[in-house]
Amino acid sequence: MLYQHIFKPLLFTLDAETAHHITFAALRIINNIPGGSDLLKLLYGYKHPGLERKCMGITFPGPVGLAAGLDKNAILYDVFHDMGFGFVEVGTVTPKAQAGNDKPRLFRLPKDEALINRMGFNNDGAHKVLERLKQKKPGNIIGVNIGKNKLTPNENASDDYLTCLKLLHPVADYFVVNVSSPNTPGLRTLQDREPLSNLLITLQAANQELANPKPILLKIAPDMEYSQLDEIIDISHQTKLSGIVATNTTVSREGLSSPSILTGQTGGLSGAPVRKRSTEVIKHLRKNCSSQFCIIGVGGIFTAYDAKEKLDVGADLIQLYTGYVYQGPSIVGTISKSLVSR
Ligand code: FNR
Repeated sequence: MLYQHIFKPLLFTLDAETAHHITFAALRIINNIPGGSDLLKLLYGYKHPGLERKCMGITFPGPVGLAAGLDKNAILYDVFHDMGFGFVEVGTVTPKAQAGNDKPRLFRLPKDEALINRMGFNNDGAHKVLERLKQKKPGNIIGVNIGKNKLTPNENASDDYLTCLKLLHPVADYFVVNVSSPNTPGLRTLQDREPLSNLLITLQAANQELANPKPILLKIAPDMEYSQLDEIIDISHQTKLSGIVATNTTVSREGLSSPSILTGQTGGLSGAPVRKRSTEVIKHLRKNCSSQFCIIGVGGIFTAYDAKEKLDVGADLIQLYTGYVYQGPSIVGTISKSLVSR
């Protein structure tokens, strides 16, 4: 109510990235005043034992997670847990800090309930993220989504992923290898058979050598033929991945009704237009993977119905980003309440 009628109309008058920073600043202030964190918990932090899910050897307090990209720099992850998320995926984190693409680089398409972003992995770098994650409250589940720096050529990409994996290993509950962002030139070619196999073999070898190996998942694009998806399933099994996050944003612009000044923006499209395709990808994955293989379903979840649709076709857990921007923080509690004891 508060978000839909007061905050959202105000925030939507501002440039989308400015609105994001103002919201983050406001949440930080609220969280730092005495009783602020309790207030956020009281307003939004719905918890119930019936929401618990066991997956990849981790007990998740709830199946609704925050998707990568919103808390890229691990600044508010404990606040998002307080506000009802069962897990938070930070990142994409790269070894070195980088500024990302020129602004403006984030656009709202309200008519389509969508966003287009070409952020370009703007982030503070793995060392800063590590320091912040060391402060994590016990019990809060953190996924760390890792990528490569823009200036690192694809031939050396595995060095970047490896650096992030080794450095952030002590603070991550699971890792996500992001090879599906459309905003780092050439990144998606790492989804091809040979580079993908090499990358995942390297990462798993390093992971297994560490004292406490962590689950590694792969995040994939929705813009793939089923044959390529089958290839990815094959590689995931060969390299003993723990699961797949499906899906990232799409480069498709099919079926949009927003003006061409918006639909023509370069970048990844998220929200309602990606819902159907991401559900199809999840369904295909579940049909072709074992029940132990974890599928995190993400793309266009705005309602309890959308969440159930992803779980019904085989997702073990779900995540959202764009739905949070359009529906506000109450979306997590609304969806969670509908999933109790499911
Ligand atoms: C993203 N997403 C994303 N994914 C990722 O793996 N690493 C990232 O850094 C980002 N960054 C990012 C920024 C912005 C502004 C958006 C909107 C999205 C993709 C995100 O995690 C998710 O996969 C898609 O947005 C689809 O889900 P929603 O938004 O439709 O719920």
